[in-house]
Amino acid sequence: MTTKTFTIAIDGPAAAGKGTLSRRIAEQYGFHHLDTGLTYRATAKALLDAGLPLDDEAVAEKMALEVELGGLDRDILSQHEIGEAASKIAVMPAVRRALVEAQRRFSEKAPGTVLDGRDIGTVVCPDAPVKLYVTASPQVRARRRYDEIVGKGATADFDAIFEDVKRRDERDMGRADSPLKPADDAHLLDTSEMSIEAAFQAAQSIIDAVLNRN
Ligand code: DC
Repeated sequence: MTTKTFTIAIDGPAAAGKGTLSRRIAEQYGFHHLDTGLTYRATAKALLDAGLPLDDEAVAEKMALEVELGGLDRDILSQHEIGEAASKIAVMPAVRRALVEAQRRFSEKAPGTVLDGRDIGTVVCPDAPVKLYVTASPQVRARRRYDEIVGKGATADFDAIFEDVKRRDERDMGRADSPLKPADDAHLLDTSEMSIEAAFQAAQSIIDAVLNRN
């Protein structure tokens, strides 16, 4: 299928800063943005709310097929319990198939789209003209999450957050279906020692170079 849509695929582990970066890029270029993690979170929340089990693939698939991409709200879906449940159902091939299908449809919106997640450059949009893999060391990511929680006036336990980041990485990188890894043609952006502004500038020069070529 030929399409005039320009897709930017952004992948990386939890708390690497890809959400903030993706929103800024979408704003800069006037593109639609989809945080695909929210589709897994919305599926998990629907199961939790209905008191349904998290280990029944057919039930989880049915919930995934009903997820509305228009109504996803990170504030509602950000709870730790929902993230944990999302990471469990994200290993199920039937759930992934249903959500990937919806994500691909979203990626075709004109004039362009930014999708962020774990498998955008490898599975959802393998033909995307720009692929970024945004990462940072587990310590730096745990520190950012800690600062964010403390910044909101809540208390946090750094060691527990650090263990959580490492456990989430293991689950995301170790699963058989669509594990988290950079696409062969992805640009690596290690933000361990970079401000969000510097990461945005780096991403912008990569995107502009491709846009000017097309
Ligand atoms: O980015 P996040 O924490 O909101 O993602 C929640 C879970 O969903 C995470 O454990 C990995 C999974 N996920 C995925 O498997 N594929 C994606 N494209 C996005 C998220």
